[in-house]
Amino acid sequence: MTELLTANRIDVAKVKADFPIFANNPGLVYLDSGASSQRPTAVLEAMDNYYRFHHANVHRGVYRLAEEATELYEGARERIGRFLSAAHPSREIIFAKNSTEALNLVANSLGRGYLRQGDKVVLTKMEHHANIVPWQMLSQYLGIKIEYIDVDDQGELMIDDLDSIVDGAKVVSLTLTSNVLGTVTPFTEIALAAKAAGAIVVGDASQFVPHRAIDVTTIGADLIAFTGHKMFGPTGIGVLWGKSELLDQMPPFLGGGDMITDVRLDGFVANELPYKFEAGTPPIAEAIGLGAAVDYMNSIGMDAIEHHDREISKLAYENVKEAFGSEIRIFGPSDPSKRSGCLSFEFEGVHPHDVAQVLDQNLVNVRAGHHCAKPLMRHLGVAATARASFHIYNDEADVDALVNALRETRNFFI
Ligand SMILES: Cc1ncc(COP(=O)(O)O)c(C=O)c1O
Repeated sequence: MTELLTANRIDVAKVKADFPIFANNPGLVYLDSGASSQRPTAVLEAMDNYYRFHHANVHRGVYRLAEEATELYEGARERIGRFLSAAHPSREIIFAKNSTEALNLVANSLGRGYLRQGDKVVLTKMEHHANIVPWQMLSQYLGIKIEYIDVDDQGELMIDDLDSIVDGAKVVSLTLTSNVLGTVTPFTEIALAAKAAGAIVVGDASQFVPHRAIDVTTIGADLIAFTGHKMFGPTGIGVLWGKSELLDQMPPFLGGGDMITDVRLDGFVANELPYKFEAGTPPIAEAIGLGAAVDYMNSIGMDAIEHHDREISKLAYENVKEAFGSEIRIFGPSDPSKRSGCLSFEFEGVHPHDVAQVLDQNLVNVRAGHHCAKPLMRHLGVAATARASFHIYNDEADVDALVNALRETRNFFI
């Protein structure tokens, strides 16, 4: 790098040693963290320790183990809340299965308690399906109207006419970072305009939180969703943060145990926050694992993580561009400072799956497909892209390996 990045605080070799997957897969060049990151030993140990020494169901028992499990689970909530600078972690952090479930919670709850037929909901053309389909389902059974902010040739949102875009909107829901283009959106600018127009603002931070510090009290959102497995945590855990004043007014999404204070034959009384939104036995070990992931990120330092993200995104963009010039189409901003996390590309005439396969023969793991963003794929005029995505365990050698494997791909197919 390793020099480059070490000089700027992250010691990639040391970080890599924290992730057993690399020792267990010698030579692996893992460039698919946008789909799911790897896990450090600290996260594996936190979950293992919980299961070995402290497991019982939470919130229900008065015996020691149940209290220990509850303490670990609620402790994770508290630490994740502090990681986001939430004003009231113990009320504002809601655990869900992933961002998809968190966004479904938002759409369904707002659909039951707030939105009416004909109401305008604004999304963007660069959303992941997780932030499109729940609203389209709402449109089908409630008749809300969805409008999409357009995307320009540089993979950026077209917001020249922002005031009229958000005018009359009841909800504006958008990503903070595109999982395909790597574009970091002007989220706060859009959020402020949307708030001025009286809309509820929802942020999909699934690709943002793994690389950038977030302060939910200043970002401009009312609700923020993200997923644990892209930020070194386990699968099966996601987070919805929301302002407690808003969450208090939103009706529950899933019904069952834990989310009530009383149930009679003719109805129920919903529990207080955050339990109102956590029906059934929660993902206890997963929440504890995500708490450990957040501790791990803090131990590296969010400034250093962001710096690394900016450097490696720039390096990958520039090196691939320099090696292949007009032979390769790189999607998203040509200004590397506007990119985060990933590099999507195509060699004209070569299917991205073929690219990914040749790369795999060189132990370079990238994703090929529509990346759960089919409307964006249609907008870009492609069925799929190949996407290399990065994290703190990737360094210049990984970018070199990508470029070399891409040379082999080009020589083979073109
Ligand atoms: C921007 C964005 N939103 C939402 C999701 C959905 O995440 P999950 O599948 O963990 O719910 C992803 C996953 O790729 C994503 O990149």
